[in-house]
Amino acid sequence: MNTSSSLPNPSGQNQNARPALPRIAVLATGGTIAGAAADAADTSGYQAGVVGVDQLLSAVPALSTVARIAPEQVASIDSKDMALPLWTTLAQRINTLLATDDVDGVVVTHGTDTLEETAYLLHLTVKSDKPVVLTAAMRPASALSADGPLNLLNAVTVAAHAAAHGAARGQGVLVAFNNRVHSARDVVKTSTYAVDAFQSPEIGALGWVQDGRVEFQRGVVRPHTLASEFSIDAAWPHVEVVASYAGVSRIAVDALVAAGVRGIVVAGTGNGSIHQSLQQALAEAASRGVAVVRSSRVGSGHLMRNGAAADDALGFVSAGSLNPYKARVLLMLALAAGVTGAAALQKVFDTY
Ligand code: SIN
Repeated sequence: MNTSSSLPNPSGQNQNARPALPRIAVLATGGTIAGAAADAADTSGYQAGVVGVDQLLSAVPALSTVARIAPEQVASIDSKDMALPLWTTLAQRINTLLATDDVDGVVVTHGTDTLEETAYLLHLTVKSDKPVVLTAAMRPASALSADGPLNLLNAVTVAAHAAAHGAARGQGVLVAFNNRVHSARDVVKTSTYAVDAFQSPEIGALGWVQDGRVEFQRGVVRPHTLASEFSIDAAWPHVEVVASYAGVSRIAVDALVAAGVRGIVVAGTGNGSIHQSLQQALAEAASRGVAVVRSSRVGSGHLMRNGAAADDALGFVSAGSLNPYKARVLLMLALAAGVTGAAALQKVFDTY
C-alpha cells in the first residue's frame, strides 16, 4: 500500500464551501511533552506532566488549520507511574468519546516511558474504527528545540487524515513521533534521550507525516480495535514480568506464585532461552496453573515456539514478536477475558 494525501487548507478564499474540519479530542495524560524545567537547556532534570493541555495546545497555533480541538486533561503523570486504573479510565473515556457523532478522532499525549504499553492496550480495547493517535516528546515543553509541539501537530494531522477516510483509517491505534507513523503493536522506545526514540524494529514504521502530508507504505495485518475480542471492562488479573540473566535465582518466581500471580512473562535471553534455575521454577508455576509466556529481552526479532525452550513439554506460551511488556498487556487481556490453558493462550498470541 502506498497512499498519501494532504489535509484541506481552510485558509482558502472560498472557505464557506469547505467541509468543517474534523473534531479531534486531545486527551492529555502528562509526560515529558508536558514537562517543564527552570532552564531551557535542561533536558534531563525537568518535571514531567506539569504543563496543562491548554498550554500545550496554545504552543501550536497551526492546530486550528487542521482540526477543531476538544481538549481534556485526563491525568498529569510521569508515565513511569502509569497504573491499571488509569488505563481503564483512559480506554473507557476514548470509547465513550468515539461513540458520539461529535468526535471524529482522538489524540493522546503521553509520556514516552510506557507509551508502547498504553498504545498496545488501546489497540486491543478501543471499539471504534475512528482514529486514535498517541504522541509524546523527548524534550520538555520548556526546552530549546522542544519536540513536543511538532509531534502534537503531526499526531492531530494523522488523526484528521484518518477521520477524512485517508489511509490512516482502519490501521488501529497509531503512534506519531518524529515525523513517523507507527503501529501500536510494533512500536517501542529505543533510546533514553534521542528525539528519534521510537522505532518499529524489524518491520519499520507504517509511514510518515510531514508538513501536513500523511503517507502510508504498509498496513496493519493482525486484528485490533473492532476486530479484537478483548475489552477493558473486566478486572485486571495479576501478571508480572521477570527476566533471565546470568546467575538469576528462582526466588522472584516462587514469591510471585506464593502471592497468587495469574501470569508471568519471562524476558528471556537471546531467542527466549531461560536460565535453568528460572526455567525449572517457571515450569513448576505452569504446572500449578500460572500462565507462563516466554519472550525475549533482546529488543527485536521473534521467538519460535518450541525453539529455545520445549514449550509443549513445559506448558509455556511463546510471545512471538511481542516484547515482554506488550506480551504482558496481551496476557492480562486474555486472562481477563477468561482464556485459560497454554494452547488457547498460544492461539491468542499467534493471532494478535
Ligand atoms: C514519562 O514517560 O512520562 C517521562 C519521560 C518522557 O515522557 O519522555
